[in-house]
Amino acid sequence: MVVSNRLPVVIRKKNARWIFEPGTGGLVSALAPVLKKKKGMWIGWPGSDEQLPYRRILRVAPERLGYQIEPVTLKRTEIINYYHGFSNGTLWPLFHGLLGKTVFNRSNWHTYKAVNAKFAETVASYSAGNDFIWVQDYQLLLVGSELRRLGFKRKIGFFLHIPFPSPDIFIRLPWRLELIQKMLQYDLIGFQTRRDLRNFIQCIKSLVPSAGVGYQRPYSIISYEGRTTVAGAFPIGIDFAKYSDLAKTEEVEEAAWLLHEKFPDHKLILGVDRLDYTKGIPNRFEAFDLCLEKYPQLRQKVSLIQVVIPSRMEVPEYQAMKRELDELVGRINGRFTVLGWVPIHYIFSTLDTTQLVAHYRSCEIALITPLNDGMNLVAKEYCASCTGNNGVLILSEFAGAAAQLNRGAILVNPYDVERTADAIFEAFTMDIEEKQKRMRKLRSEVRHNDVFRWVDNFLAAAESLE
Ligand code: G6P
Repeated sequence: MVVSNRLPVVIRKKNARWIFEPGTGGLVSALAPVLKKKKGMWIGWPGSDEQLPYRRILRVAPERLGYQIEPVTLKRTEIINYYHGFSNGTLWPLFHGLLGKTVFNRSNWHTYKAVNAKFAETVASYSAGNDFIWVQDYQLLLVGSELRRLGFKRKIGFFLHIPFPSPDIFIRLPWRLELIQKMLQYDLIGFQTRRDLRNFIQCIKSLVPSAGVGYQRPYSIISYEGRTTVAGAFPIGIDFAKYSDLAKTEEVEEAAWLLHEKFPDHKLILGVDRLDYTKGIPNRFEAFDLCLEKYPQLRQKVSLIQVVIPSRMEVPEYQAMKRELDELVGRINGRFTVLGWVPIHYIFSTLDTTQLVAHYRSCEIALITPLNDGMNLVAKEYCASCTGNNGVLILSEFAGAAAQLNRGAILVNPYDVERTADAIFEAFTMDIEEKQKRMRKLRSEVRHNDVFRWVDNFLAAAESLE
C-alpha cells in the first residue's frame, strides 16, 4: 500500500464527464508495476477541494491501472492549514534550512496531526494480511504513529523526498520532540542522501538521548521504547530508459530541431524548476547576468531558457517569488537585449514530456542551482536525455543528486554568484572530449541507479526487517 499526499492521477472533465488519467511522474512509473503485481492500493488526496464523486470516478482504476486508488478528501480548512500551512509553510522551508521563510502556527500543527490521522484511518480500514505500508514524504510524517495509535501492527516504511535538516535547524520547531519521537514508530525510514540520514541521527541523539543508536552496514538502527527503526539512505532515481528512448524518437528530434532553428548559432542553457524559493532561480539569473558582464564574448552567443512550472500559488511566498522573477528577467533582458537576441527566455508554464525532452536535447548546458534540494530529478532527466553525450551539467552542491553526480557535473555553490558565472563560461568553452567524458560518467550513474533500483532497494530493506 502506497500512501502519499497526492494521488498518482489527474482528474478532469471530458465531454461533460469526470475522468481520470494516470500521472506521469517518476514515482508513479516506479511504483505502479509493484502495485500491479501485488494487487495493491494507492491512498492519497485528489488534489482539490471540489466535492466530486471521487470514489465513483476512480472505481475503474483496478481495470485501467491494475491497482486500486482510494481518495482521502480534504475540507477547505484542512487544505489551508495542513497542506499550505504546516506542510508547505513550516516543514518545507524548515527542512530546506530556510528559517526566514518558516512560519510556526499551532493551529496548523493541530490540523496537520488530524489530517495525518485521517490518512491513517483510511490505511487501517483497507489494509489486510501482511500488507507492507509505504508512506511518502513530509506531508505525512505522522501517519505511522497514528496507525500505531489505532493498534496497527504491520510493517510501515517511510521515505522522505526532501532534505532532513541538521539539529541546529530542526530544534527551532516547537514540536520537535513530539515529531521526532513519533517518526520512530516507523519500521523503516529512507532518506535521499547520507547527509540527511546523518542529520536525522544527530537530531535523535540530541533530542531523544534515551534512544539507542547502532550501526549495521549500511543502515542505522534506532531502538526506542521497545521498538526498532531501521534508517538508511536510498537516493531516488528516474526511469532512465524512458527519457533516453524518448530522446531518440522522431517526435522529439523534430521538436528539438525546431527549437534550435529559433536560436541559430546560439548555445542554449536550460533551467527547469517548479516555482519555488528553494530552487535558487534568482541567484541563477544573477549569475547569468554577471557572466554576460564579465565575458562579453558570450553576448549574442548564448541564451538561457528558464522554464518555471507554476506551483503552490496560494502560498504568499510563492506569489512573491513569481513577482521577483518577472522583475529580474525584465531587468536583465532590458540590460543586454539587442535586435535579434534576448538573453533570457522565461517560460512560466508546464511543458509536455515531448517538449521537455526536446528542451533537454537542444540545450548544451543545464544550469541547476537549487539552494537546497532533496535530490533534483531534472538533473538526472537531463543526463538521460543527452543521448549524444554532448551536454554539460552545472549542478548545485546542495542538490541531493550532487552526491552521485559529482564526478561528471561542474559543481557550484549557488550562493557564490561569481563562481557560478565562471562555471557557465567554463561549460561554454569546454572541449568536446571533456564534455563527452563527463556526460558518459553521468549517464552511466543515472542509468545504473534508476528509480526501479530505488524501489527494489527500499523493498529489499523492508523485507529484511525482523
Ligand atoms: C516536491 C515534494 C512532493 C510534492 C511535489 C509537488 O517534489 O517532495 O511531495 O508532491 O514537490 O508539490 P505539490 O505541493 O504540488 O504536491
